[in-house]
Amino acid sequence: MITGASSGIGAAAARTFTAEGARTVLMARREEKLRDLAAELRAGGGEVALSAGDVTRSEDVERAVSVAVTEFGGLDAAFNNAGEGSLGTRMHEMEQSVYDRIMDVNAGGVWHCMRAQIRAMLDGGRPGSIVNTSSTAGLFATGAAAPYVAAKHAVLGLTKAAAAEYGEQGIRVNALVVGGTRTEMMDEVLRARPELEGPFVARAIQRRLADPEEVARAAAWLCSDGASFVTGGAIPVDGGCSAV
Ligand SMILES: NC(=O)c1ccc[n+]([C@@H]2O[C@H](COP(=O)([O-])OP(=O)(O)OC[C@H]3O[C@@H](n4cnc5c(N)ncnc54)[C@H](O)[C@@H]3O)[C@@H](O)[C@H]2O)c1
Repeated sequence: MITGASSGIGAAAARTFTAEGARTVLMARREEKLRDLAAELRAGGGEVALSAGDVTRSEDVERAVSVAVTEFGGLDAAFNNAGEGSLGTRMHEMEQSVYDRIMDVNAGGVWHCMRAQIRAMLDGGRPGSIVNTSSTAGLFATGAAAPYVAAKHAVLGLTKAAAAEYGEQGIRVNALVVGGTRTEMMDEVLRARPELEGPFVARAIQRRLADPEEVARAAAWLCSDGASFVTGGAIPVDGGCSAV
């Protein structure tokens, strides 16, 4: 199950996961985009199911999980990647609704997803792997808006807590600490504030932004048995940004 699958890192993950033979449930709000992506993946031999919905609504998330169970016989892995950014308006000038929205999508979405996914994994009685998308904003104040920084810190906390609670039952839970990546979210930020591109690039040791596929490949590895002894981790995919 991949959330935020209609664009950017989520769409790249849909391509990477299906290329590796995963039967995949795609979830995002924009059904039309999901349909186009599903048609492309099926044409390449991928097995995909769709479940349009909003990760802030637990009933939508539960529906997506139940699609995995009914269509594919269970849920083995999940990439909780849906997220929404916000430009760096200062806290005292920010509308309350922006805080509520950013926390709901980025932290609340991961909360709803993990609860429904863990239930399905426990019911299935098989090992499972969950990967949540955090950010370098989950480690330090990157200049993104405060609620985004707080929400991405919360994603790391939820990840560690879930890893600790369900490790003995064979469920691994990790987070990706993602650095600047060329996606719709990044395009929107750079359209509004083109002067930020230089500092984003300069922050990474590799002096560039990531391609979404580079993040997707890390998620696929964490979901696979290749990462069988990796849990509770905050895995950087940030071109070295958090190392210096
Ligand atoms: N692009 C970057 O530089 C960057 C850096 C660090 C972390 N991230 C994180 O990576 C993740 C993916 O973002 P992206 O860069 O691919 O951006 P994107 O805007 O291309 O993709 C975000 C996806 O999440 C979906 N989404 C947003 N709100 C949703 C909701 N309420 N319910 C369901 N789906 C929802 C969108 O429809 C879209 O499919 C996000 O969690 C983001 O915070 C991105």
